[in-house]
Amino acid sequence: MEILGLDIGYGYTKALTQRGQVMIPSLVGPAEAIRFESDIIAANGHGIALEVDGRGYFVGEQAEVQSASVSQTLDVTRTGSPEQKALFYAVASELLKTTDQEVAVVTGLPVGDYDDRNKEALRRMLSGRHEVRRQGKRARVFSVTGTYIIPQAMGSLFALILDRRGKLIDSDLAAGRVGIVDVGTLTTNYVLVDRLRYVEVGSDSITSGMGELLQKVAKDLKREHGLDWSLQLRKVDQAVRERAVEVYGDRVNIAGLVIPHLDALADTILSKARTLWGSGVELRAVVLTGGGSHELAPYFRKAFPHVRTVPGDPQFANVVGYLRAGLRRFGGAE
Ligand SMILES: Nc1ncnc2c1ncn2[C@@H]1O[C@H](COP(=O)(O)OP(=O)(O)OP(=O)(O)O)[C@@H](O)[C@H]1O
Ligand SMILES: [Mg+2]
Repeated sequence: MEILGLDIGYGYTKALTQRGQVMIPSLVGPAEAIRFESDIIAANGHGIALEVDGRGYFVGEQAEVQSASVSQTLDVTRTGSPEQKALFYAVASELLKTTDQEVAVVTGLPVGDYDDRNKEALRRMLSGRHEVRRQGKRARVFSVTGTYIIPQAMGSLFALILDRRGKLIDSDLAAGRVGIVDVGTLTTNYVLVDRLRYVEVGSDSITSGMGELLQKVAKDLKREHGLDWSLQLRKVDQAVRERAVEVYGDRVNIAGLVIPHLDALADTILSKARTLWGSGVELRAVVLTGGGSHELAPYFRKAFPHVRTVPGDPQFANVVGYLRAGLRRFGGAE
């Protein structure tokens, strides 16, 4: 059985098997016009065009340019929606071999959606026989015979306490009370775990994340430098990472423009953590994860001396944990 870790975020969909990993922007648009006959080769290597329940969709970069009405992010992550299924199919067709027949999917739900109804809707969307028809690729036919759905941020804790075979390597952390903060694109999720059990009263989510920072920076870039990137947040993202932009051929430092917005975001995110967990003195650790942890780690280190991060790319930390938890639950592929 092949195990697939799947993290569908508002910004990016991340997936991992024992053989490989992928990340695609969570953009999905209808593709009424495309045909899936074998004589049509994908126009370029980047786009993904595929079929879900008889309808065509563009996924990822291609959805940006090809579809007039790229689905709103909310549709994309609406639990069990065809858009969400399109994201699942996009990563499955990338990572699964044509010979894979049985697959177990381990995935998460945002804390705010973590209830029986959403779990059931997600399980229904994932389970059963799938035939993925994707332009330029051979069809993938497989059956999802197992699903394991946990609160989204909790994957990152599994990434810390389990090794790559799914064996427990940190029984100290597994036996304690741990707070996890997952700073994503549109949301920040807070998960409290006690001896590996999800504690609902100490968990919550807020609609603040890196996207908010990027939008504010985009406004400033337009006002101060005449760069109109409000619809090209990927460029803003790059500029924030480099703390620089190019204006009329000159490289301009934008650290002074970014820092106040970052301070404000950190303030919002940390104050929610304090509301939920106080000073954190009774927690064994605070695990910081998600793409936002690059920027927020310095703030968290000041607020919580016992903050921990997962080795490797923090955007992949949840799926790493999903895969390891899957190996523990469903057994390995070998
Ligand atoms: N190397 C990096 N340096 C700075 N920021 C980064 C880096 N890598 C990722 N990010 C930030 O992380 C964001 C994406 O994080 P992530 O993939 O965890 O969000 P998501 O899961 O899609 O969103 P959500 O959890 O809200 O659904 C990017 O938009 C970017 O701002
Ligand atoms: Mg996320």
